[in-house]
Parts: sequence; structure tokens; C-alpha cells
Amino acid sequence: MIQARVIIDRDFEIGEIDRRIFGTFVEHIGRCVYGGIFEPGHPRADAQGFREDVLELARELGITVVRYPGGNFLSGYRWEDGVGPLEQRPRQLDLAWFATEPNTFGTNEFIDWCRKAKVEPMFCVNLGTRGPDEARQFIEYCNHPGGTVLSDLRKQHGYPEPHGIKLWGLGNEQDGPWQIGEKSAHEYGRIAKETAKLMRWLDPSIQLSACGSSNSGMKSFGAWEYEVLEECYDQVDMLSLHQYFAKSGDSYDFQTAIDAMDRYIEQVIAICDAIGAKRRSSKRIMLSFDEYNVWYKARLTGMLDRPKGWPVGPAFNEEMYNHEDALILGGAMISLLNHCDRVKVACLAQLVNVIAPIMTENGGPAWKQSIFFPFADASRIGHGRVLRQAVSVPSFATKSTADAPYLLSTVVANEEDTRVAVLALNRHLTESLDLKMSLRGFRGGWKIADATELVSDDLQAANTALNPDRLAPRALNNVAASGDEMSARLAPASWNVIVLQRG
Ligand code: AHR
Repeated sequence: MIQARVIIDRDFEIGEIDRRIFGTFVEHIGRCVYGGIFEPGHPRADAQGFREDVLELARELGITVVRYPGGNFLSGYRWEDGVGPLEQRPRQLDLAWFATEPNTFGTNEFIDWCRKAKVEPMFCVNLGTRGPDEARQFIEYCNHPGGTVLSDLRKQHGYPEPHGIKLWGLGNEQDGPWQIGEKSAHEYGRIAKETAKLMRWLDPSIQLSACGSSNSGMKSFGAWEYEVLEECYDQVDMLSLHQYFAKSGDSYDFQTAIDAMDRYIEQVIAICDAIGAKRRSSKRIMLSFDEYNVWYKARLTGMLDRPKGWPVGPAFNEEMYNHEDALILGGAMISLLNHCDRVKVACLAQLVNVIAPIMTENGGPAWKQSIFFPFADASRIGHGRVLRQAVSVPSFATKSTADAPYLLSTVVANEEDTRVAVLALNRHLTESLDLKMSLRGFRGGWKIADATELVSDDLQAANTALNPDRLAPRALNNVAASGDEMSARLAPASWNVIVLQRG
């Protein structure tokens, strides 16, 4: 049995949670849009062709923001192709994923979908094949009230009110050789700056995120962030991070992907603040962790594994998630929450079918993958402020991390300090963990309001269309509260949610 002690104090906090960290991502890739959120003719499709079963699951998942339309797809996208009368929309070849893009789903459909899902859209502008002029035109079409060619065009298309899109990404993974329109840090920093200027002059209320490195393993990681921000520090609000967790060793080593995620976030913060210090600026650049997930079992890259015959909505990158992957995703949620002072937006990549918590069959059912649960738990309890923790727990060592604690946890207090919620991962794969937590500075009198665990005796167990409920949270029984203390026994390889209520 592993012993862990956690001390929190009501007055010691990391920061307020920005609810936009519970975002996801919808790209025109595989069956994410076509056959995922949009399938006209499906028995559960509404009048616009949106699958209501998927909408229901998206609401249950608790998503707050959805990034759109890519991803690599973005870097060859012409927004004009996806608006206006359907019969006039061109079919285009998508060179990111070697598919045909029918453009039957575009900006206005996405906005309608977001309204139905009750989420905020995060749009990205193409800085691969395009630049500031198209970005300026696009934001004029979307956000300008009227009286100009493009805003009146939106009205003609059936949208009299501006969409009011606040959150914008400037390009996608522009450092990647796989990207349509790869750029050097200097080239990208310049175009991001000029694009940001025009977009903000048109709508000063927007928030802008510039591309950081495609991942922390890029050779130029660090130097890229530095050089990009040297150009556009004053024009942008956030810098993006992307990370896909892959298993290349045993299950313990896989778990330390989260320790690497923590380091990655802290390294990017350090670089942002170094530029800020050099400029003697009081401004702080925030982080948009706008792509993360487990992705290695079904990883196809457009170039090497191109589908044949330029299909529409081909089935690929449909990762099946097992229990072990759910633990990693839980770790990612803990990492995002514990960095809530700087991470203001985050998007699980993606929402449906392609590396996704929700799966569908064309013409058939929709179901939840294992990673659905830790995300939904974090979004449900993630209201309020995250508290600092003093943790003492034994660690393990793997080939990639020397000192990985068996317990990962985050503690969230509501505004009134009447509720404290704990998300906790026992990373020991065979032993239970005895957790003792002291909650200092509150007035005591805690009761357990809710406690669940996600456990499985098989790390490889997964939900499927035929067996959609094999993995699901269940009641956590070994938990108690008394005075200022809470104790719980966490099963091996388990994800746990404990909610304490006062009074
Ligand atoms: O999410 C799938 C792809 O991964 C995205 O298109 C790209 O940005 C990243 O490399």
C-alpha cells in the first residue's frame, strides 16, 4: 500500500479556472465533421443534418469551446468556399489529409452547431497559403455588424446578426514540414503580427493565439517560441502548445507523459516571461493548449498513409481508447488545472471519431470512449479556484522520468468555500494508495457529497459499439471526512473524483 499526504490551505491558491480549458477540437479530417457531428440522413440528424446523439454526448462531456476548422486542414482552407448557397459551394482537394472537401459544412453551419451545443467557437485563420488580407476579410464577414460587402454577404446568407467570435488562432503548426505553408520562426512571427494587427483593428474585442512549436520534441522548440514572440509579443494574447501522448515503453513509462506535459507548460511559460522581461513589459502571455490527447495506435500521417481516391470523410486516425489511456487523459486534466494561472484555453483533440472521446458509426450509434470520463469529470467539478498542495508521496522512475510521484492530484474550491473537489490519479498499477488530506483554513464540517472511481483490472479494456459500457465510473466507497481531514483508499491504476461539501 502506498501512503500519500496532501495539505491544502484555503488561502493558498494557484488561480481561478478559466472555463475555456474544457475545450475540444473539430477539424475537417476523417469522419470528424462528415459522419461525426454532421450526417444528413442519419436517423438522429436534425433538420440541418447535425447528429443529435452526438450533440447530446458533447453536452454531457461538458465542453466549453470548440476550435475549428483545423489543424493541418486549415492551412489550405478557403473560408469563402464554405459559405453561401450549398449548390454553389466548390468541391476542393484537401492536401493536408488527401481527401475531397465537399464544403457542405462551413463557417455558418459550425456557428449553428456551436449554438446548439452551447459552446464558444474558436476560429483559426489560414496562415499557410493565405495571410492578413484573407484573415481581415474573414473577420469582417463574421463579426462586422453590416454596411460593408462582406458583412452584408453574411446577412444575405441568412445571418443578420454578427457571429461575435472572440477567440482566434493565427495559423496552425507553422513550424512543421508537414504543414501546407511551413514557415521559419521569423517569417511566421512577422505574418502573425501583421495579421493580428488587422484583425484587432477590425474588432478590438477579440483574443488572439499565436502558434508555438508543434510539440516540445521539435528541434526548434524554445528557439521558435522565442523568435515568434520577439515579433508579435505586443499583438497576441496567447501562445499555443500541442502534445500527443504516445506509448513507447511500458505502462509506467507511458504515465510519465504527464510529467513531460508539466515540464512543457513550465518551459513555455519561462520563455514567454523571458521575452516579457527583455521588453520590460508588464504584459503576461497566456497559454492555449489547443491540441492534446493520446495518439499512437491509429496514427496515420497524411503524407505517408494517404487514402486512395480522394474520398469524402474517410475513416482514419480512429484511435480506440482503453483504460490506460483514460488514466493519461486524467493526468492531462490535472496538469491543465494545476497550471490554470497561465493556461487559459485548452482543446482536447478532437471531438468525434478522429482521436476522440465520442465515436460514431455512419448510420449507426454513438458511444463514449474511456477518455470521455476524466474529461467530463474535470469539466463538471472545474468551477472556482485551484488550490496549492503540499504533497508527500513516493515516486517511481522510468527511462524518461527519474522522479514521478504515484499520486497526481488537483484540488478545486468553489467561490463560497463550501465545496472542495479533488481529482486524483493513483499511478501505481498494482497497489492501492491511502490518501490523507488536511484541509486547513476552512471551517471544517466536511461531508462526502460525491465520490467515484474509474477502475479496470485490464489496462487494455475499451468501450466498443457492441460493448459501449464496459468502462464507466462507479461509486468510490473507501472515502471518509471528519473535521478538517479527508481520507480515501484509491485502487491501483485508478482515476478518482471526491467532492466534499461543508455544512
Ligand atoms: O489533430 C490532428 C492533427 O494533429 C492536426 O491537424 C494537426 O494540427 C496535428 O498535427
